[in-house]
Amino acid sequence: MSRTELICTSCNSSFNLLEYYHCPYCKGILEVRYDLDRVTASTGDAVKQELQPFPFSPGVFMGEGNTSLIRAKCLEKKLGVARIDLKGEFMNPSGSFKDRPVAMGVKAGIHFGHKRLIVASSGNGAAAVSAFAAKAGMEAVVLVPESTPQEKVSQSMFLNANVIKIKGPYSNSFTLAKILAETESLFNVTTTFINPYTVEGDKGAAFELHDQLNGYWPDQIYVPIGAGPLLVGTRKGFMEMASLWEREYTPRMIGVQARGCSTVAEAYERKEDQVQEVVVPKTIAGGIGDGLQGYAKDGTHTLSHIRKSGGNAMAITDAGILEAQHELASLEGLFVEPSAAAALAGLKHNVELGKVRAEDHIVLLLTGHGLKDMASAEMKKDIPLVGEHDIKRIMKVIKGS
Ligand SMILES: Cc1ncc(COP(=O)(O)O)c(C=O)c1O
Ligand SMILES: [Zn+2]
Repeated sequence: MSRTELICTSCNSSFNLLEYYHCPYCKGILEVRYDLDRVTASTGDAVKQELQPFPFSPGVFMGEGNTSLIRAKCLEKKLGVARIDLKGEFMNPSGSFKDRPVAMGVKAGIHFGHKRLIVASSGNGAAAVSAFAAKAGMEAVVLVPESTPQEKVSQSMFLNANVIKIKGPYSNSFTLAKILAETESLFNVTTTFINPYTVEGDKGAAFELHDQLNGYWPDQIYVPIGAGPLLVGTRKGFMEMASLWEREYTPRMIGVQARGCSTVAEAYERKEDQVQEVVVPKTIAGGIGDGLQGYAKDGTHTLSHIRKSGGNAMAITDAGILEAQHELASLEGLFVEPSAAAALAGLKHNVELGKVRAEDHIVLLLTGHGLKDMASAEMKKDIPLVGEHDIKRIMKVIKGS
């Protein structure tokens, strides 16, 4: 291979980097493949610059990426694990990791001469597309399920997107975006596997982890997954670095889902290869509430990456996710949304299953900010309202009596 191209992950056909949403022969998922022999980079940051589909095309930069890596010493102590690092993806400019894939998707859109974008999203992708479209001077049509948290809807509206709520689960928005992209010539930047370029943005966290950890790759990376492009993209980044620098080991990828929408986890637990759709997803963690209705093959794709990495998939109850959300707040001072907290819930689950060794080095991808979904941020007690002169009452509140 002598150039960057698209490869069908099902039939292995290759194509130029054109505007494809699936393999024209077999409808399989497409991914970008590079001629790694031409890459000269020796750091993660340099690889990030080189291994992208359109390195010479103009894009829009909003300050995305280069998120902090935060050592979680209290969690290490509590869980008895040697090292836990939290990758602060919620620190991206629109408040979630989606800025990475969307930046790449928008760049592809500009490259192909588009002025109008469409995205189906559970809210975070919507906000990211709205922000990047505004900055790029593009129009954004944003389809979100009716259950999307108001914070994410308002964020997208304030950023001037054309926001439309679609009845039913996320999959309905997904299917509609796919149809409208074709009939209305909108560029589809939905951040699943439909746009092969967005996953290239998801690789960013992997390259940064390499640099932030001075080349010491973690043993396990926990990723909340809907369809799973973030997990697949992160693994792709590590696989590319591994072949560039002839390293044999890549981190185990752990996919965490909610019990009420456990497409991939269910197939993993049943030792099946084919993922089944969930018709009525039911979870407080809306970001990972994608039932994959009509595109279960996306989950199958993610599952095969999880297995090949030596990782596992699991489903956590909403109560377990909310508990993890509180622990991240009380032990590490971080307020993330429930979908993000699922990563910690997954780690706790694997610790219980004995799948984590005491000497392991763990990374959790904290994907979305807590302010994005205030309704699900359960307050453990009521806020007292006290008269301004009522020192006695204030003292009682402080002392907890
Ligand atoms: C906060 C959050 N975490 C995780 C995910 C799941 O990501 P993926 O689409 O890569 O499966 C999403 C998706 O919207 C999300 O919003
Ligand atoms: Zn194919």
